[in-house]
This record gives sequence, structure tokens and C-alpha cells, in this order.
Amino acid sequence: MKAYRGIVLHFTGDPAADPANARLLDDGALVVTDEGLVDRVTPWAELPGRLRDEAVQDYRDDLILPGFVDAHVHSGQIDAIASPGGDLRDWLERHVYPAERRFADEEYARQAAGDFLDRLLAAGTTTACVHTTTFASSTGAFFAAAHERDLRMVAGKVLMDAGGHAEGGPVPDDYLDPSVQQAEQDCRELIDAWHGKGRCLYAITPRFGPTSTLELLRMAGRLFQEYADRGQPVWAQSHLAETKDEVDTVLERFAALTPRSYLDVYDKCGLVGPRSVWAHCLWPDDVYRTSAGGGQDWQVLKARQAGVAFCPTSNLFLGSGLFPLERTRRAGVRVGLGTDVGAGTSFSMLETMNEAYKVMALQGDHLPALRGFYLATRGGAEALCLEDRIGGFQPGGEADFVVLDFAATPVLERRTGTAGDLVERLFALAMLGDERAVKATYVMGRRTWENT
Ligand code: GUN
Ligand code: ZN
Repeated sequence: MKAYRGIVLHFTGDPAADPANARLLDDGALVVTDEGLVDRVTPWAELPGRLRDEAVQDYRDDLILPGFVDAHVHSGQIDAIASPGGDLRDWLERHVYPAERRFADEEYARQAAGDFLDRLLAAGTTTACVHTTTFASSTGAFFAAAHERDLRMVAGKVLMDAGGHAEGGPVPDDYLDPSVQQAEQDCRELIDAWHGKGRCLYAITPRFGPTSTLELLRMAGRLFQEYADRGQPVWAQSHLAETKDEVDTVLERFAALTPRSYLDVYDKCGLVGPRSVWAHCLWPDDVYRTSAGGGQDWQVLKARQAGVAFCPTSNLFLGSGLFPLERTRRAGVRVGLGTDVGAGTSFSMLETMNEAYKVMALQGDHLPALRGFYLATRGGAEALCLEDRIGGFQPGGEADFVVLDFAATPVLERRTGTAGDLVERLFALAMLGDERAVKATYVMGRRTWENT
């Protein structure tokens, strides 16, 4: 057993729903078992003397927080981050497909996977929901690197079989799945090899509507249902309604389904359920292409226990739109924060919270400090349906945590030093912090990254 003394913050639910869901101890201890699980969180003064004397790591001036959960990110875009210009469609064509295609090279894919996970750890992120690339070998390389680091990662091979150059689309033909049958076989082999191995979890990952045939989405939905039915549930993830142009394309492409909305296309294919995670959702059917009985997307997402990833740095970088966080709160939809690197411009969830605050401000809404930290930890875990294991400090949970330094930079030190109370200090940390504020990252109770 080991105890970590510090300012401890964690959540049992959304503080916007009930302020008591935020647990903040200004002099606390996180106690971790030898197996790397959370034993308890307690005020320092109540820690048994034996632990206090012998097995303490002193982070008294720092914040101890559950490891960040990045609810949506692309490992295949580590070298596409900060590629300028264009809207989503342009940017994908000019920068992303060529960058992801390099992952055909297995040595490059192996190195990039390791570097990507090390960037996450340096940012204090211990779990992410990850799109890799269409190459199954690159997905295998990603899981191998995650397993080596004992990380709780949800990831999948990107599925795409439409929109190739041959049909006048933007995707290089050799970057598409050669057939739906081959794509299905790749998924099955990856699930057999990696799902449930250590802390790895597999997500069926169709890229999005515009690069999918109906046959591919139906295969993806069938797999998602099949593994759930046999008691070995896998995850599913994709992009949803990021731009109006994308919504128009999808409603046209899948008109044969007479979909109520873009989401309805995925739903009709069986992909929307618990453990499904949808990135963006900026143009759902209550604001765009509202059908006769319209505006049901949020209710459907809520009813299905699906998660949504709010990716502010990406949404601002591509000019895609403003995520309606207040609307999702009213609907009771599970929401996490995603970096969406490479459209996102930072691996840091602190910087992502900072941009989320501004996205809310642009809509006349306010994102309180505690709610930002909730979204970046427990909120993400809820979006991924992993809140029993990660994202908080409930006894028996996996002890992934990050230690954040309120005085990491001169500006942070000065601002947090003059703050009136702890919540004000937390707000300053969220607005001014980045990787420099991450003092250490712990995975299953083991220090795996340290800022030296
Ligand atoms: N939609 C389809 N693919 C992508 C991607 O790689 N990034 C983003 N932001 N949106 C997408
Ligand atoms: Zn994305």
C-alpha cells in the first residue's frame, strides 16, 4: 500500500447535475494498493499512522487528479498536427490521408505508436479512444505499444471503402479497405489478438459516412452487436455531423435508408449503443436538416447510452462549429473531451479545457473550472462506459493518475499564488496549463512519466 499526499480532486458524476459529485480535498491522500488499484481517498489527517510514516509520496502543493481521458484522438495523425488550411474535406484530402498512408510502413507505424503514447503520457492522459489507420498492421503496432505501457486504451482499425480517387473522391485508392470481407476479417483478427489483452479494448471504427458504403457500415454494426451478444462486448466509434457539408453528403449517400438524420444512418446499421463514441456532433438534427419529426438525435444518444466527444481545439482549427455543451447537459447525454489530434492542435487536456471554455463563451455560456476537470476525467470515462474502472478514485478502480503543478510556469505560479481560493487556482491551471504543468503520470500505481 502506498499513499500520495496532495490536493486531491475527483468526481462521482457531473458537478453540473449535483455539486456534491465533485470531491475536492485540500490536504488529502490517495491510497493505492500493491496491485495498482485505488484503495481510498481520505483527508491526510485521517490516514493511519503506519501509511503516514512509511509509504508516502509527498505532493502537498500539487493537484492529484485521475489520469486524463481523451475521448477522441487519431494516432495516425501524429505527423499531421498543425497542417494548415481548408475546411474538413480539404484538410483530410491534402494532409490527413497522405499522413495516415505512411503507416503502411510497419517500422514507421511502430515508432509512431510509441511516440504517440509517450506524448499522451507527457500530457497526463492515461486513457484515449483512438482511431489508428486503415492498415491492420498499424493497429496491431498501436496495441502492442499500449500493452507494453499497461495503458487502458480503446482503439480500432479505421474502416473506409468509399470516396476513392477511382470514383472521383479524395481518398487514395490504396488507402481504402480492399473489400468489406477483408475489413471484417481484419477486425476479427485484431479483436482476437488484442481485445481484453491486458488493458486493451477494441473499437469498431468506421471513419465516417462519406468514406463508407452501406455494406461496410452494416458489417460494422453486425460485429458490434455480435460481440455484445456473446458477452464479449467491443466498442464502436466514428465521426458524426462535424460539418454541414458532411451531413448533406451522408443524407444523400444513404437516402435509400430514408434516414431521419445522419445519426439515424449509424443507428439503422446497429452502431449506436452503450460503448459507442461519436466525435463532434456539431450539426445534429435540432439545428440542421431537421426532419418532420426532427430534433431527436440527443434523445436517441441518451436513450442508447452512447457517448459524444467534444473536441474544441479541432472544431476551432477547422472552423467546423461550436459544440452545444449546454444542450447535451439538458439532454443528459454522456460527454467527454477529445483532443482530436491532428485536427486538434494540442495533446494537452488542459489546453483542451481552455478552448472548451472559449467555445462556451462564444455561445454565451460558462464552463466552471470543476466542470472542465470533470469533462476531462470522469466525463470521458462515462462517454466510454468505463467509469467503473477509470476516470475517478472509487475504491477498486484502476489507479491511473496525474500530478499537476500549480507553479509550473512563472505566469501560473503568479496567478495561482494570488488566487482567492482553490477553485480559482484550478481555473487558472486549466486556462494557463499545458504539458509543463504535468509533474508525473502514474499508470496502475506505477510512475510511468516524470517531468524532469
Ligand atoms: N472526419 C473523418 N475523418 C476525420 C478526421 O480524421 N478528423 C476529423 N476531425 N474529422 C474527420
Ligand atoms: Zn477525429
